[in-house]
Amino acid sequence: MRAAMTAAEVGDDVYDEDPTVHRLQERIADLLAKPAALFVPTGTMGNQIGVRLHCLPGDELLCDADCHIFNHEQGAYAQLFGIAARSIVAAGNVMQVSHLEDKVRADDVHFPRTRLLCVENTHNRAGGMVYPLAEVERICSWAAARGLARHLDGARLFNAVVASGIPARDWARHFDTVSVCFSKGLGAPVGSALAGSPEAILQARRLRKALGGGWRQAGVLAAAALYGLDHHVERLAEDHAHARLFAAAIGDCAGIELDRPHVETNIVIFRIDERLGAAADFCARMVRRGVRMSAISKQKVRAVFHLDVSRHDAERAGDLLADVVEELAR
Ligand SMILES: Cc1ncc(COP(=O)(O)O)c(C=O)c1O
Repeated sequence: MRAAMTAAEVGDDVYDEDPTVHRLQERIADLLAKPAALFVPTGTMGNQIGVRLHCLPGDELLCDADCHIFNHEQGAYAQLFGIAARSIVAAGNVMQVSHLEDKVRADDVHFPRTRLLCVENTHNRAGGMVYPLAEVERICSWAAARGLARHLDGARLFNAVVASGIPARDWARHFDTVSVCFSKGLGAPVGSALAGSPEAILQARRLRKALGGGWRQAGVLAAAALYGLDHHVERLAEDHAHARLFAAAIGDCAGIELDRPHVETNIVIFRIDERLGAAADFCARMVRRGVRMSAISKQKVRAVFHLDVSRHDAERAGDLLADVVEELAR
């Protein structure tokens, strides 16, 4: 990847003159079967531009209560754009039409205007769950029938593609805009893309500039993203296998409970019994053993598998976790 970055042909992307950025944007548009795409620095920027494309100040989006846009992007849609969010609590984080039906607000001066449905696939906080395609189809066609736009936060869409065997375009066709990340499982240092209609992407280019995301010789970074697409998509299956291996090992530890018994992709979320203390302390003990995990709530921990974590590392992480459990249970 470093060699590909060094060799990249570049131009000034603020003037839309970078040939490597063009190649990446065309590649993403093709993969997602959308007419156009824009290279952006982060998944957060891709999502926030996506939201803003569909909503104006005083508008409202619908999303799952545990999604990234709602929880982990500082409410940027509200801070920056005056957009409101209505979050939906749904069993297993799978929104269904029944959850959404009474959430579209009446046209009334008291209410924001419901304009957009956001979906996350795979779902980070739901332990890397692949959103069931049938449910995507149902909620998106329901939303379309009510005149709501649809945005897909596909930060880990390629994990969903590899785990399900369903091509990216078959997920993307239910959405007006789709964001994908190169900086997660695909291993690029930087970068995401937003895909949609030519008009949406033209407007997205303006918004990206306003947010300070107009970059110059970005081809160096686009080359890394292209390398990730060429070499690191199929191998996501290895991360999924490592995550399953780890989950199977820790599932036997007393005091550890997997959030979801069936691990589908590269994320394992587990709950620590209160008798073992808090998740933050648990993670600190794992760090002292050389394994990083995140405490995502008082008792929950998230472990993520990626291209720098080998099968041996995954097995070793399971053993070290058992050590920590033993230490805390003493
Ligand atoms: C589901 C999801 N969407 C969006 C993002 C944002 O990506 P970035 O960190 O590139 O802003 C993340 C980051 O972890 C994520 O998990």
